[in-house]
Amino acid sequence: AAAIPFRGTHQAGIVTPAQDRLHFVSFDVTTESRADLVDLLREWTKAAERMTAGEAAGALGAVDGPIEAPPQDTGEALGLPASQLTLTIGFGPSLFDRRFGLAAKRPAALVDLPAFPGDDLEAARSGGDIAIQACANDPQVAVHAVRNLARIGFGAVAVRWSQLGFGRTSSTSRGQATPRNLFGFKDGTANLKAEDASLLEQQLWAGAADGTPWMANGSYLVARRIRMHIETWDRTSLDEQQAIFGRFKGTGAPKTSADADSAEFDDFEFDTVTGASEPVIADNAHTRLAHPDFNQGARLLRRGYNFVDGSDGLGRLDAGLFFLAYQRDPRKQFIPIQQNLARVDAMNEYVKHVGSAVFACPPGLSRDGYWGDTLF
Ligand code: HEM
Repeated sequence: AAAIPFRGTHQAGIVTPAQDRLHFVSFDVTTESRADLVDLLREWTKAAERMTAGEAAGALGAVDGPIEAPPQDTGEALGLPASQLTLTIGFGPSLFDRRFGLAAKRPAALVDLPAFPGDDLEAARSGGDIAIQACANDPQVAVHAVRNLARIGFGAVAVRWSQLGFGRTSSTSRGQATPRNLFGFKDGTANLKAEDASLLEQQLWAGAADGTPWMANGSYLVARRIRMHIETWDRTSLDEQQAIFGRFKGTGAPKTSADADSAEFDDFEFDTVTGASEPVIADNAHTRLAHPDFNQGARLLRRGYNFVDGSDGLGRLDAGLFFLAYQRDPRKQFIPIQQNLARVDAMNEYVKHVGSAVFACPPGLSRDGYWGDTLF
């Protein structure tokens, strides 16, 4: 398959059909020099463009440079194809503090996320000045990209936290089958998709008129590391599991279309009432609480990944969903939706949010542009 173009109106890695693997990294900027930061962004852009084309991070590569110097590429992707690698950058609220003279350019939409009921956030897995999302169909390619960007950034940035993910938990294009999350449910059925052109303009891409001209054609990313208590989940009845999502586990079809011809992409009919007195989709079902009908029409482009980071020393898998969602304005999208979910979602018994971050992802790059050039 062909490499994904690095430049364009929008950054790659947002509506790009979700690849299978993720390495997400959040950096703290350690230099206090704005000039050094801009130099790094220029260097990163060159390396990122090369790596997304399947080339080494630096022109001299892993083995063709002077032998008395460390190589310009770490080497573990030698011989591997581009694997649809995309690298997507975002800037966190803390980058807009006093250090770099950017305070006046902080987008109003780049709010500090409020504390939500049930949050159990770890500082060491939250926040960060700059994030880079690396997605690829080969984990070695995604890890190679992040490793080389961190290497190039030595002295100017330090890794704050990073997260590996597998088995994309969302489809972002109608050409993709819907994958499953670690609860075993199809995830991404009602997602915003690359083909929804007018919805993407309304719900995904920031506009020049939104108040932050440098973000026009960019998007805001919310990242949440959500631990899943899968051992508890696995002792829960199928009936209960399906009630939580309001969907059938097998087909992913809404439970409101229980007849023989029910299908995954049928719409919910929340008013439908069974013979009994109960609505088919309970008030505390995840999909009902997250549905645009109950959130002023707000939608998200979800692009998350499953993770299993070994076990936790207490006999449980350290597993969950690394939730990534792109949107035009978190104040109108992620925040109100998560406020709904955090309060009453029946799923809450089985999940815990342990990491959180928000980033402003600038527009795509022009022919000679570098990452962040509309901001600096
Ligand atoms: C839908 C799982 C967290 C927002 C769904 C669906 C599943 C699911 C299985 C139904 C299929 C689909 O339409 O994609 C999960 C799991 C989560 C999680 C396992 C955490 C571990 C979140 C969070 C948000 C969110 C934190 C946002 C704050 C949505 C939205 C929908 C959805 C907007 C589509 C609702 C609709 O329009 O029908 N989720 N979700 N989810 N979820 Fe989640």
